[in-house]
Amino acid sequence: ISITVKTRDGALRTLDAPEGLSLMEAIRAGGIDELLALCGGCCSCATCHIYVEEAPEALKSPQGDDENDLLESLDFRKANSRLSCQLTLSPELQDLVVRIAPED
Ligand code: FES
Repeated sequence: ISITVKTRDGALRTLDAPEGLSLMEAIRAGGIDELLALCGGCCSCATCHIYVEEAPEALKSPQGDDENDLLESLDFRKANSRLSCQLTLSPELQDLVVRIAPED
């Protein structure tokens, strides 16, 4: 699955990642370590916060209560916010474009 990531300095990186990986894992495996993901994907740290800029299907994939609660606690939450550890790469997300949210 090809995804494009905008980092905080505005750079664009395109990565190829296997289906089934979480978006957070794909971003970190691509060497973008400003996405801290401190909890390792347990949906408890919110340091994997991203904005979905293209491929809005990603916003339709089910958001768990835990994810919603954590997003609620963030100052920088927007309508297109997601926690990247809670999104699994699938063919619908081909050409997904996301932006790494500012540090909360
Ligand atoms: Fe901690 Fe996503 S990695 S909430």
